[in-house]
Amino acid sequence: MFAPLSESIIGRARKQGLIEINLVNLRDYTHDRRGTVDDVPYGGGPGMLMKPEPLFEAVEALRTPESLVVLTGPRGKRFDQTTARDLTRQSHIILICGHYEGVDERVREGLTDLEVSIGDYVLTNGNLAAMVIVDAVTRLLPGVLGCDESSADESFSAGLLEYPQYTRPAEFRGMSVPEVLLSGNHAEIAAWRKRQAQELTRRLRPDLLSEKEN
Ligand SMILES: C[S@@+](CC[C@H](N)C(=O)[O-])C[C@H]1O[C@@H](n2cnc3c(N)ncnc32)[C@H](O)[C@@H]1O
Repeated sequence: MFAPLSESIIGRARKQGLIEINLVNLRDYTHDRRGTVDDVPYGGGPGMLMKPEPLFEAVEALRTPESLVVLTGPRGKRFDQTTARDLTRQSHIILICGHYEGVDERVREGLTDLEVSIGDYVLTNGNLAAMVIVDAVTRLLPGVLGCDESSADESFSAGLLEYPQYTRPAEFRGMSVPEVLLSGNHAEIAAWRKRQAQELTRRLRPDLLSEKEN
């Protein structure tokens, strides 16, 4: 599930030393022969919960005074581009991936600085959620994208969706690229893009505009 960490832009960023990512196996922080990390919930109910001891031991062994401990979970703060940008300012982040029915509540109370949800649905575990967070944060780090401006203009960066983009050919199956983009007039192109971004956002995501006004 963590294969994307070695591929494409994230893999390259790691090789270039722009970000360091370490995977930690919680079973390394258990003390029984089977490496038990889960147990039945008090009070009954379906499924298993992650035990507090291995999580506390692991985080306590790994964290520094600068670490931010982030728990993944459906009840957390909804992950968005602003949170991704905020996380780029952290020097060390520990992401906790829950499994089974989730984690013992004391992990929230005693270990977690921030709980993050990647959306209103339930995943089987926190691995993919962690991957989403790592991906969105890494691409915002200086030097990671080929050209640093690549993330400056895109969706959510100014509280707007991105304007429509086209590449060659100028004519394809009866659909043509808007004339203004072929004009070479940079001021007109910039104004067209701004208008398009505003119109698209108003039509598809009016909630973003009201957030921007507040
Ligand atoms: C099956 S879920 C647990 C769901 C929990 N029983 C509940 O109802 O809220 C197991 C783990 O997947 C991860 N997870 C599931 N959905 C998530 C989401 N929307 N955002 C972030 N992490 C999620 C969390 O790490 C969670 O501990």
